[in-house]
Amino acid sequence: MEYNIAILRGDGIGPEIVDSAVRVLEKIAVKYGHSFKFKPYLIGGCAIDECGEPLPEETVNGCLESDAVLLGAVGGPEWDGLSGDRRPEKALLGIRSALGLYTNLRPARLFPALRGASPLREDMIENGFDILIVRELTGGIYFGDRGYRDGKFGEEAFDTEAYSVTEIERIGRAAFEAAMKRGKRLCSVDKANVLETSRLWRRTMHTLAEKYPEVEYRDMFVDNAAMQLVRDPKQFDVIVTSNMFGDILSDEASQITGSIGMLASASLGDGTRGMYEPIHGSAPDIAGTGKANPIATILSAAMLLRYSLGLGNEAECIESAVDKVLEQGFRTADIVGDSGSEPVSCEEMTERILSCI
Ligand code: IPM
Ligand code: MG
Repeated sequence: MEYNIAILRGDGIGPEIVDSAVRVLEKIAVKYGHSFKFKPYLIGGCAIDECGEPLPEETVNGCLESDAVLLGAVGGPEWDGLSGDRRPEKALLGIRSALGLYTNLRPARLFPALRGASPLREDMIENGFDILIVRELTGGIYFGDRGYRDGKFGEEAFDTEAYSVTEIERIGRAAFEAAMKRGKRLCSVDKANVLETSRLWRRTMHTLAEKYPEVEYRDMFVDNAAMQLVRDPKQFDVIVTSNMFGDILSDEASQITGSIGMLASASLGDGTRGMYEPIHGSAPDIAGTGKANPIATILSAAMLLRYSLGLGNEAECIESAVDKVLEQGFRTADIVGDSGSEPVSCEEMTERILSCI
């Protein structure tokens, strides 16, 4: 089959890690007889430099015409001084919204080979953990009314969180469906003791839960969830939460797996077109040094095959290649931990993974 994949390299380490993932996809295409057409588009800081805006129309249209989008990362200190709506990060929110990608899947599992890189005590993770964070991605405080105004103490800024029943229902459904395909346990994270949006979130989730009697459902306040994640991560199967809480909890979950450099993500909407990106940022401090870990992007490419192209076997082939290379002891600098291994470069890690496909 022939598939169109839009490639958004972005800034910082984005180009290195996306190129690694593209090489992996090319190898998969040869092995399984597929044809992937990669079309590059600009996004983020590089787009600001070249076109004067972080999300050019051509990029949005290119993504809309594709079967799937593979993204690196955006942003960097060069563009930090720009106003909120001119910043590279705005492009990320813009493309998620333009493609209608309201469901963000962020799996965080402990790679057995990386146990030593996790900051959690051995006895807390001896049985591993495998969590799927389902983050709402196109609503909430990220997209609510904002601005500046005269307040009680003079100039003030404000951002607002708003969620409709429709938005909560559709992310809730995605989470219950995901739970049905996994361990059938779902924890909805909110701040219903304080926030009105959370109270509506909770009420809506409870109504949905009645339709999924096989799923063991519970609610948890976000402050408690932050604590429980590092106290006993194994208690979680699927977590569903709002845009902002999901942003924060997914970074925390990534740390306990050993490194944020390992975690992939899929952003999906109603159809099969999705966008796939590592959950880490553009790491401008190590861009071009060869220190970047390409695994999160390579695993994102695996998710792309699974969710947008329906190529589950091909996805598993990539995932087991990553497992093998880690078991062989190869580590990029971020996952060396207490393994005593000499860190390998982004390039070498990619070569090793390619050789296992
Ligand atoms: C993420 C990132 C983004 C977000 C930033 C870069 C806008 O932190 O994908 O988690 O907050 O969604
Ligand atoms: Mg984040």
